[in-house]
Order: sequence, then structure tokens, then C-alpha cells
Amino acid sequence: MAFFKTNSQTPAVDFKHLPRHVAIIMDGNGRWAKKRGLPRTAGHAAGAETFRTIATYCKDIGLEYLTVYAFSTENWKRPAEEVGAIMGLLKKYLLEAIGKMERDKVKMKFFGDLSPLPEELRLLCEQTEEISKRYEGCQVNICLNYGGRDEIIRAAQAFATACVEGKADPNHLTEEAFSKYLFSADVPDPDLVIRPSGELRLSNFLPWQSAYAEFYFTDVLWPDFGKDELHRALAAYQGRSRRFGGIK
Ligand code: FPP
Repeated sequence: MAFFKTNSQTPAVDFKHLPRHVAIIMDGNGRWAKKRGLPRTAGHAAGAETFRTIATYCKDIGLEYLTVYAFSTENWKRPAEEVGAIMGLLKKYLLEAIGKMERDKVKMKFFGDLSPLPEELRLLCEQTEEISKRYEGCQVNICLNYGGRDEIIRAAQAFATACVEGKADPNHLTEEAFSKYLFSADVPDPDLVIRPSGELRLSNFLPWQSAYAEFYFTDVLWPDFGKDELHRALAAYQGRSRRFGGIK
């Protein structure tokens, strides 16, 4: 797995040849807050601001798909106060997003099992997706109560059910057909996966979809991840040679 560490210079990005789909693990909020003597929840609030900035910028530069990891199936293990703060930030963001949708034409989707979420937030997610259906602009996918293995198990169950019902044939299953059972059905695989905060792992984020993704790791903590850092990631991506198992 290739990865790229940042340097202080901001390289040029070819905006005509952007990746179609960028996926980001928004990591480092807690450490950002700790460094400043603030509660972890302040780090998440700053991280939500960064998400706003980066999502808006991705739309402005014409990126087709942005997927972010907002809350994993494992994040329920965190203290109730922290979980509540993240849910509150999501609610705040969605209320704002709904208000701006007609102007921005951003399409929003959620990857994950929304059923255990607080009802108000779940309804807001459903409403946002419903309104979004009519838009064709940048698609922002928010992974919420998402786990990659959980997603694959759910897809396998749905496929098995389709087989039992005679709607699918296990002898003719292809990767493309299976991917239609994932939360990410109809979304192209991420070309570039970004993880800030110095951690060099995937943490159950889009494991199926990232099979051929390029990875970009940086020590910058998510709340400090600005446009320059995104440019570095995009430029690093553009310097890679993608062969998908073939030769060039
Ligand atoms: C990981 O950092 C971050 C999270 C688990 C939560 C991410 C949530 C947000 C950015 C806010 C809401 C999102 C949206 C889309 C409005 P961490 O807490 O694990 O950081 P640490 O590793 O430094 O402790």
C-alpha cells in the first residue's frame, strides 16, 4: 500500500483531472481538542466545521463524490456525552444542509444502519435523502453507524434472500452484481482515500470499495485539514500510476 507524507509546499493540482470519488476518515478531533486543553466535543465541533469547508470546496471544484466517515458501528463505545455531541452536530449540519439544498444541488446519502439513531436524527437523514433525489450535483455520502464488515454481511444476507426468493442465482454472482447490495450501490469506488491524524489504517471504512483506491495519509489533524491539505492529497493522487493489476 503506497502512502504519501506531506511536506510544507502546496503542489499544483490539475483540476481537469480530479478523482471522481474522494473518501475521508475524519480523524484526530479528540487529539486536536486535547492539545488545546478543550473537551473532546469541542474537537468534534471543529471537525464538523472542517467538514463543511471541505464538502463545499469539493462541490465548487466539481468533484462528483465525497464520502466521509462520521460515526462507525464501534463509536457507540464512546461516552454517552460524546456520542450525543456528534449526533447533535450531525443534526445541526443536516438542518443547515436542507436549507441550502435548492441552491447548492448537493445530493446527500447515508451509508450505514440508521435504525439505532435517535428518531429525530434518523427522520432528518431520511428527509435529506428524499429531497436530494432530485439533485444531480456533487454527491456527499455520510457514513453513519457504518462498519465495512457489517455492510458486507448485510449485503450477503440480502443476496441470500434474493437467491431463496428465486430473484438471484448464486452461480452467476459477479462483483458488480454483489456491489449493488452494498450501501454504496450505484456509487463508483473511491479513487482516493484520505486519512489525517497520522494513523495508517482503514478502520473498517469502505473495505470492499477501497480495493483499488489510492491512499493518502497525513499527520495533520482533521480540524486543521484545509484546502491546502486537500490540494496536497489531490496532487499526490495525480502523481500516482494506477494499474489495477495490469501494466502500463
Ligand atoms: C474521529 O476522531 C472522529 C469521529 C469519530 C467523529 C467525526 C464527527 C464529526 C467530524 C462531526 C459530525 C460530522 C458531520 C458530517 C457534520 P477521534 O475523536 O477518534 O479523534 P482522536 O483519534 O484524536 O481521539
